[in-house]
Amino acid sequence: MDTKIKTLNEKIALSKLGGGQARIDKQHQKKKLTARERILYLLDEGSFEEIGALVTHRTKDFGMENQKFYGDGVVTGYGTVEGRLVYVFAQDFTVFGGSLSETHAEKICKIMDMAVNVGAPIIGLNDSGGARIQEGVRSLGGYADIFYRNVQASGVIPQISAIMGPCAGGAVYSPAMTDFTIMVQDTSYMFVTGPNVVKTVTNEEVTSEELGGASVHSTKSGVAHKTSANDVECLEDIKRLLSYLPQSNREKPEDIVFELKDEVRESLSDIVPDNPNKPYDMHSVIDGIIDEGSFYEIHKDYAENIIVGFARLGGKSIGIVANQPMFLAGVLGVKSSKKGARFVRFCDAFNIPLLVMEDVPGFLPGTDQEWNGIIVHGAKLLYAFSEATVPRVTVITRKAYGGAYDVMNSKHIGADMNFAWPNAEIAVMGAKGAAEIIFKREITSAEDPEAKWKEKEAEYAELFANPYSAAERGYIDEVILPKNTRRKLIKAFSMLENKEVGVPKRKHGNIPL
Ligand code: HXC
Repeated sequence: MDTKIKTLNEKIALSKLGGGQARIDKQHQKKKLTARERILYLLDEGSFEEIGALVTHRTKDFGMENQKFYGDGVVTGYGTVEGRLVYVFAQDFTVFGGSLSETHAEKICKIMDMAVNVGAPIIGLNDSGGARIQEGVRSLGGYADIFYRNVQASGVIPQISAIMGPCAGGAVYSPAMTDFTIMVQDTSYMFVTGPNVVKTVTNEEVTSEELGGASVHSTKSGVAHKTSANDVECLEDIKRLLSYLPQSNREKPEDIVFELKDEVRESLSDIVPDNPNKPYDMHSVIDGIIDEGSFYEIHKDYAENIIVGFARLGGKSIGIVANQPMFLAGVLGVKSSKKGARFVRFCDAFNIPLLVMEDVPGFLPGTDQEWNGIIVHGAKLLYAFSEATVPRVTVITRKAYGGAYDVMNSKHIGADMNFAWPNAEIAVMGAKGAAEIIFKREITSAEDPEAKWKEKEAEYAELFANPYSAAERGYIDEVILPKNTRRKLIKAFSMLENKEVGVPKRKHGNIPL
C-alpha cells in the first residue's frame, strides 16, 4: 500500500477517537488547522461519524491511478454541535490542493441529500484549488451537482460556508448560494478569476488578498457575512451562529428559559439626542433592549447605514434590522437595501421573528444611487418585508420619513405591532423641505422670506413631526416610553408566537432582482 494511504489510515483511526477542542492546544489556535482538526474542533467531543472515508478517485489520466488517497481530498460526515445534529464537509488541501473531483463532489452531495431529508444544517469548510484539473468536465459536473443541491436546500435547511483557504473560479458559487459565508482573515480568498487572468485581461496588477481577501469581501462586495481572525475563531463563529437557528424550516429556533420581571431599562431614555440632526449609535439601543450580550451581527462592516443580526429577547431568537444614524444618517441606499432584504428573507424562511428599529430620513439621493438602481434594490427590501409571514414588530425611535417609512416594516405592508417613541417624526419629509415646497408662494412673497419659512417649518413640524397623527389612524399601535421598550417587545413577540398567515397559491413570486 502507498505510504501516503497508510498515513491517512492512521489519521482516520485517530479521528475516530474523537477528541475535539481539547486537542487543539493554545499555540495551535492561531494557525491553520487541518481538515480533520477543523471538524473535531467544530463538533462535540466524540460525536463525529465519518462517511465515505475509503472513497478514492476513478481517474486514470495523467498517471493518476498511481496517486490515490483515501477520502479523495474531502472529509465528510455528521456529528453534533451543542447536542444538535449537523452535517459537515471539510476539504483537505493536503490532497491535490483540496481540488474537487467527481468522487469528492459525490461525497459532498451524499451528505447534502441526507441533511435535507433529515432536516439538519449543513456546514462546508472550504479550502480548495477548485476543479480537479486532471478530471476535466467530470469535475465541472461535480460542481454543478453541488450547486443544484444548494438551491434545492435553500430555505429548507440552514447552509453555512466557511472559507478557510483558496476558493476560486466557479467554486465560489456554492458558498454564494448558501445562507452565510464566513471568511478567515489573511488565509482565505475568493474570486471568479485570479490575479493572473485579471492582469492579462485588464492589465490590472492586484494581489489575491486585494482582489478577494476577507477584508474586501466583508467591506466592499458583501460576499462575506463575517470575518474571523483565525480558524478557531471561525469555527466558534459557526457554533454561535447555529445557536440562533432552527434545524430546518420545519422547526422554530430553540428558546432559552426566561422569566419575565419588570424589564424596565432606564438607560434607553438618554440615547436619542434632543437635536433631531445629531447622530447616535443604534447599537446602544439594540443592546439596551435585547438579552445581555446576545447580539450576533451579520455584515458588520458592509453597508453600515443598516444593522442586521440575530439576538435573544426574553430567551427567544429574533432577527433585527435597524437603521444606523451614525452612518449616512441611516438612509436607505443600494447596498443597505440588499443587505436588509437578504436578512429578512433568511429569517422569514427559518421562522425567526423580526424586530425593526427605525430611524430613517429616507432614500439616499443622487446620480450614483439612481444609476446603480436604487429603485430596483430598494424594492427588494420592500418586497422582502411584504412577503414575510413571521411575527414582525417595529419600533420608531426617531425619524420615519417618506417611502422609507413604508418600506421599514410599516403596518401597511404586514407588520404586526408598531410602536413609536414620543419624539418620533412620521411624515412625507423633514419639516424644512416640506415647508419650502408647499408654502413656496407665501415664503417668496413675504417681507421677510427667511422668517416666513421658519414660521411655516414650525407649523408643519407641529402637525407632523410627532407620532400622534399616525397613532390616531392606528398606523402606530402605541406610543411608548423608551425605558419600557424591552418589556413591550417581549410581550408582543410572546403574543405573536403562534401567528399563522396564509399565502396565495403560486409557484414563486418575482422579487425584483
Ligand atoms: C489538481 C491541484 C489543483 C487543481 C492545486 N493542486 N490546485 N491539483 N487540480 N485545481 C495541487 C497542486 O498541483 C499541488 O500538488 C498541490 O495541489 C498544492 O498546490 P500548490 O500550487 O503547491 O499550492 P499553493 O502554492 O498554496 O497554491 C494554491 C493555489 C494553486 C493558488 C490554489 O494551486 C492554484 O492556482 N491552483 C489552481 C487553481 C485553479 O485554476 N483552479 C481551477 C479554477 S476553475 P503537489 O502534488 O505538487 O503537492 C474552477 C472551475 C470550477 O474551479 C467551475 C465550476 C462551475
